[in-house]
Amino acid sequence: MPTKILMVCLGNICRSPLAEGILASKLPANAFTVDSAGTGSWHVDQSPDKRSIAVAKKYNLDISTQKGRQFKKADFTTFDYIYVMDKSNYNDVLALAENPEQRKKVRLILNELHPEQNLDVPDPYFGIENGFENVYTMLDEACEIIAEKLTSK
Ligand code: 4NP
Repeated sequence: MPTKILMVCLGNICRSPLAEGILASKLPANAFTVDSAGTGSWHVDQSPDKRSIAVAKKYNLDISTQKGRQFKKADFTTFDYIYVMDKSNYNDVLALAENPEQRKKVRLILNELHPEQNLDVPDPYFGIENGFENVYTMLDEACEIIAEKLTSK
């Protein structure tokens, strides 16, 4: 059985599609499954934001075929690790958890990079173009650490 990792943000069009693409590129596909979801439903079945597609392409990642979906309770049983982008995602996901085992799977992704600081990956949706580059860098650094941990187990 592959280890399954889920990336979660609000819309599933900016941050978590990038996190999905970046982490998947750092892990062997035969042993790991990486997916993403949003806590909100506005962008279900939509492609990632064109600015996320563009910054990924700049780093040779193709995330253009991903489709948005909403986080659901069943994800707690499907996935082994659930990484959320910010504290609001964390609260929204935890509100759907039904037991301590499910709650334990949920982590703020930047705590991998800056332990216990509870930092947010800023939502770049309403921001300037450069926001996507910053988000990419943060996620690339965090995913590097996640991939090292997962593959050294
Ligand atoms: P994301 O960004 O959570 O990184 O995908 C957002 C995208 C869309 C919206 C909010 C955040 N929205 O409100 O439509």
